[in-house]
Amino acid sequence: MVCLTGGGMLRFAAGSPGTGRQRVLVAGTPEEYPAGEVVPVGQGEAFIGRDNNGLYAVEGRCTHLGCRVKWNAGAGEFTCPCHGSVYDHTGRVVRGRAPRPLRPVALDLDATGKLMVDLRRGVLAGSRLTV
Ligand code: FES
Repeated sequence: MVCLTGGGMLRFAAGSPGTGRQRVLVAGTPEEYPAGEVVPVGQGEAFIGRDNNGLYAVEGRCTHLGCRVKWNAGAGEFTCPCHGSVYDHTGRVVRGRAPRPLRPVALDLDATGKLMVDLRRGVLAGSRLTV
C-alpha cells in the first residue's frame, strides 16, 4: 500500500497498478460534510454528500462514456462536460445521454473515525452511513 498526499487529504493506493487511479480514498471526518452539501474527494474521483438520511458517496465518472463529472453547487446538480448529462445531488440522471445514475460506492468509517470511500465496491442506491 502506498500513501500519497494530494488535495489536502491522505489517499491510499490499492490495486489498479499503472492506472494512477486511487481506489480507496481517505476523506476526513464526518463533521467535514454538512447537511445539504456535496464535496469532491480525491480530486473529484468521488463525491460525498449528506442528506436527511445520512452520508453517501458516488463515483465521479459519467455513466455515458466515463468523463469526470463536476458538481455545480449553485444548481445542486452534477454536470458532465463531455456531452451534457445532468445528475441530481444523489447521482440520479436528470437529463442527457447517461444511461444510469452515478455509481454509488461504499462509504465506511475506519477505526480512527476517518471516512473511507472504496471505489472498488458498489452499493445499492439509497445506501447511507449514519454517523
Ligand atoms: S460522457 Fe458524460 S454525457 Fe457523455
